[in-house]
Amino acid sequence: MRQNIIAGNWKMHKTVRDASEFLQEFLPHLEHTPEDREVVLCIPATSLWPISKSLHGSRIRLGAQNVHWAEEGAFTGEISPAMLTEIGVRYVLVGHSEPRQYCGETDEAVNKRSIAAQKAGLTPILCLGETKEQRDNGETEDIIISQVEQGLPGVDLANLVIAYEPIWAIGTGETCEVHEANRVIGLIRSQLDNPDVPIQYGGSVKPALINEIMEQPEIDGVLVGGASLVPEDFAKIVNYF
Ligand code: PGA
Repeated sequence: MRQNIIAGNWKMHKTVRDASEFLQEFLPHLEHTPEDREVVLCIPATSLWPISKSLHGSRIRLGAQNVHWAEEGAFTGEISPAMLTEIGVRYVLVGHSEPRQYCGETDEAVNKRSIAAQKAGLTPILCLGETKEQRDNGETEDIIISQVEQGLPGVDLANLVIAYEPIWAIGTGETCEVHEANRVIGLIRSQLDNPDVPIQYGGSVKPALINEIMEQPEIDGVLVGGASLVPEDFAKIVNYF
């Protein structure tokens, strides 16, 4: 049985104070949220510890936005897997298109981060997706298959979430047509040895679209950027159907 996972990705938004204010508004909306879905918030590193304390007893699972592959060492600016698990973090984003685009993140690094995260007990949310140019050139399938092949060797499929995020749909308001997202996610699933890996869609997910997205048979949840910053919007997404 595949788990439905609704995850917010705050990117570089919200101070600790902003995060606390968000939760005050957001948490009451979870009172009647069905148990069939996991609710995750991937928040900036500075807020992880204070927010972890205030989430005690809530059903929100905490996610980080990056993790290093080494246990410790001379890696200025990085965060180790144990630093995250110690403060109650359960999930971590890896391979998001922004670090791939702006920080030179490679499939090899994504693979190493995923393996190290799992070793420490974290669940990686491995992001992949094609650019507009690749889509226009008919390269979507090849790119996706290559990202899966390079990102997954040695990764435990029993403790993994994949997020299909077409790069041209991220932060642009241009959502991928749901049947097309469903098709590509089906393609990703066909490349995996374990049929139970949850695969999310991400890219301009808005409250008005969530039911249609979640009705698709291959789609097991969403990774939400902009709309996860607004308590009411994210609440509507979490409470789909
Ligand atoms: P968006 O971001 O919902 O703002 O398009 C999605 C993401 O980057 O994960």
